[in-house]
Amino acid sequence: MDRVIIFDTTLRDGEQSPGCSMNHEEKLRMAAMLDELGVDVIEAGFPIASPGDFHSVQEIAKTVKNATIAGLCRAKKGDIQSAADALAPAKSRRIHTFLSTSPLHMKHKLNMEPGAVLEAIAESVAFARQFTDDVEWSAEDGSRTEDDFLCRAVETAIAAGANTINIPDTVGYALPEDYARRFRMLKERVPNIDKAILSVHCHNDLGLAVANSLAGLLAGARQVECTINGIGERAGNAAMEEIVMAIRTRNADLPFTTNIDTTKITKASQTLSAITGFTVQPNKAIVGANAFAHESGIHQDGMLKNAQTYEIMTPESVGLERSALVLGKHSGRHAFRKKLEDLGHTLGENALEDAFLRFKKLADEKKNISDDDLLRLVS
Ligand code: KIV
Ligand code: ZN
Repeated sequence: MDRVIIFDTTLRDGEQSPGCSMNHEEKLRMAAMLDELGVDVIEAGFPIASPGDFHSVQEIAKTVKNATIAGLCRAKKGDIQSAADALAPAKSRRIHTFLSTSPLHMKHKLNMEPGAVLEAIAESVAFARQFTDDVEWSAEDGSRTEDDFLCRAVETAIAAGANTINIPDTVGYALPEDYARRFRMLKERVPNIDKAILSVHCHNDLGLAVANSLAGLLAGARQVECTINGIGERAGNAAMEEIVMAIRTRNADLPFTTNIDTTKITKASQTLSAITGFTVQPNKAIVGANAFAHESGIHQDGMLKNAQTYEIMTPESVGLERSALVLGKHSGRHAFRKKLEDLGHTLGENALEDAFLRFKKLADEKKNISDDDLLRLVS
């Protein structure tokens, strides 16, 4: 009941963001990394989008050992057929089909009446079920869809054979409580809801993608769609590493389990950055260069006494060797002495004080103090 399925869409929604496209070999390398990380479902691409996407999904389907491979398609037979063909070699395959359900999207994007949308949902899901027992249906712009219509659309998709129902916050508009309410509402009102797993899929336009995803899980969803480093359309998708580490770190309040080997998180993040050239901001949670780094004297002193004073997770738990005590103008004597000892210099009190004063002067002038700078100071 409390196992959360991690559905990774780095290779699909992530790749859709400007500057993040990956070539065939890069996609295969990233898919292998995701499999090693332990994700349950890899959304490998949108097979109808281009021959290249089709080929990548097909090769990923052939080579990935453990994860289920998913392909995205619109509610069109051609899309679904193409996804089915690309996914055919997979040991375990999922067809993921979607259609917009919000009044805004139905009117301006689809130019379809609600009744026609319901028909298209039933037809597309039933068609997808001819190729696999594992069909996911997504209500695009679900977080801006009217409750009554969302219930009818979800009921229709499940009746046609969908076993995962995803309610995306496509435009990153939701707030945690409102997003959670939708899941509770669906569980209460949709008669066949027990035949499907509910899924969250949140974008980060208001910086709430992870908070909304966790709220959805607490309200009964058991699949979370996310990307490594939070890459994705516009401001990105919910970051997998943040969700997984929140669950691990706050397990009493988020009583779920995942299959992710968290010690591979740093490697996965760095692999993606190296492939896309998209670097991670230094203060990014979990995988930013500063996530386990400390410069201020007060924090460094606490860290040297007991790391739990300023760290809620161990660096080892995400695959880092150790925290970094970075020397800068805010650093204190304790960290300075420790760093010199690590560099092989144990100074007496007077020499240490003297070196520390020279270090502070240098740190006022220079942003980054290197090991060479320190060695020069004490030489
Ligand atoms: O954000 C979204 O609505 C999507 C769907 C296609 C699942 O990515
Ligand atoms: Zn999305």
